[in-house]
Amino acid sequence: MSNIRDAAYMIAAILFIVGVMRLRTPATARSGNLLAAVGMLIAVVFTVIGASVGNILLLVIVFVVGAVIGTYSSRAVKMTAMPQMVAAFNGMGGGAAAMIALSEALQALGHGSYPGLSQAVPGLFDMLVGSISFSGSIIAFLKLQEWMPSRAMSFKGQNAVNAVILIVLVLLAIYIPFQPSILLDWILIAGSVILGVMFVVPVGGADMPVIIALLNAFTGIAAAAAGFVLQNDVLIVAGALVGSSGTILTLIMSRAMNRSIFNVLFSAFGSKVTATGTSERGEIHPTNAEEVAMLCAYAQRVVIVPGYGLAVARAQQECKDLMDLLSSRGVDVRFAIHPVAGRMPGHMNVLLAEANVPYDRLYDMDDINPEFQRTDVVLVIGANDVVNPDARENPGSPIYGMPILNVDQAKTVIVNKRSMAAGFAGIDNPLFFKQNTKMFFGDAKGALQSLVSAIKEEVA
Ligand code: TAP
Repeated sequence: MSNIRDAAYMIAAILFIVGVMRLRTPATARSGNLLAAVGMLIAVVFTVIGASVGNILLLVIVFVVGAVIGTYSSRAVKMTAMPQMVAAFNGMGGGAAAMIALSEALQALGHGSYPGLSQAVPGLFDMLVGSISFSGSIIAFLKLQEWMPSRAMSFKGQNAVNAVILIVLVLLAIYIPFQPSILLDWILIAGSVILGVMFVVPVGGADMPVIIALLNAFTGIAAAAAGFVLQNDVLIVAGALVGSSGTILTLIMSRAMNRSIFNVLFSAFGSKVTATGTSERGEIHPTNAEEVAMLCAYAQRVVIVPGYGLAVARAQQECKDLMDLLSSRGVDVRFAIHPVAGRMPGHMNVLLAEANVPYDRLYDMDDINPEFQRTDVVLVIGANDVVNPDARENPGSPIYGMPILNVDQAKTVIVNKRSMAAGFAGIDNPLFFKQNTKMFFGDAKGALQSLVSAIKEEVA
């Protein structure tokens, strides 16, 4: 039986790896997700068959309840609420890893001993990291759901206090195997829960996706450690995959914002509005749907830049309608995707995919940037920081060095937003005052609808 189980675990591990590889492009992501899910089903079924399960009915009930909650919430969740769902599920994973370690310690102590070092070390690691991930993810969920203030909140010396708590907890974890006690295990878990809260509270609202990716990595590593505790190979493989992909994602996002991961974690970015550093503002040039319609309809090439505002307004279908209309007139329409546009990785790709915008119309930053000089009209829809030329030109700007979409190099730039308010970074954007920029004010959905109608009426 154990040979069959090992073979099943091997198949599950291969499915996980192939699944993750297929997540790299939108065209294969769906099948990648399915393959990984099949791998997980195989892993769960063969674990249950192979284990000496006491109460099979209880297990089935838990399995069904979990499956129903998981299926319902992933179907019902709105695109903009995806980060908090990931946070909630991630927290469950971290908490489960900590509880597995605690239950193994309880069982061993019931037999008058503590797990040997090969299980005690990963077990104590699980209690520490799994609990941090659990409470940190809950705080991330509450912030993203706006059930608590989403801005960064910190007090003077918070980083030092966190460092002291971490050192004390690590020392406690080292001490426990020498003086095993369930009380000390619980103290370790409680302290780690507090540290998870203290760790995430100082992170600002829009930095949350980065912290979620990092907590995801923590949960993955904790799950791998739980695999060592339970001596379950497939859990080690799955945990290591989650841990490494979470780490890579965290680094990609930090790099795309030109911030180190330490800056994201410890600077309380977004706790206050940052001064701009732009000295001349000049005048803006407001426009309307009719003028934008003329500009777009008679252009050869139009590039649409979607941003966070597009997601808030849920205007992806209107974007697609505009693309179809302009394409039918022979206009070359492309979408420029900045790696951190919006509030979570791949946010814009997923939104546009929802409206069936073909993948080959989406261009990454490095591919589209050389094209802007040859572009007649750029339509910036609800994006701000990712098109701020200060990132390229103003060394005094807090976002200086962040790679941006060079939209200002196009002949005409149309910026759609509701007001002159700042984006996530809280800074002015000199793009709005440039000679070749026109401000098209209004909610993205309404503005795009009126633009589509104007194109149909004006140039019919
Ligand atoms: P932002 O810089 O946040 O700007 C979004 C703009 O959308 C705002 O200026 C807002 O202006 C406008 N807006 C809001 N609701 C709107 C609506 N209903 N209709 C039209 N416009 C609307 O967005 P971005 O350019 O996409 O940049 C993303 C930012 O998030 C970057 O700073 C990035 O570093 C950060 N971030 C991203 C990620 C990931 S993974 N994507 C992770 C962490 C941080 P008004 O209020 O005037 O309308």
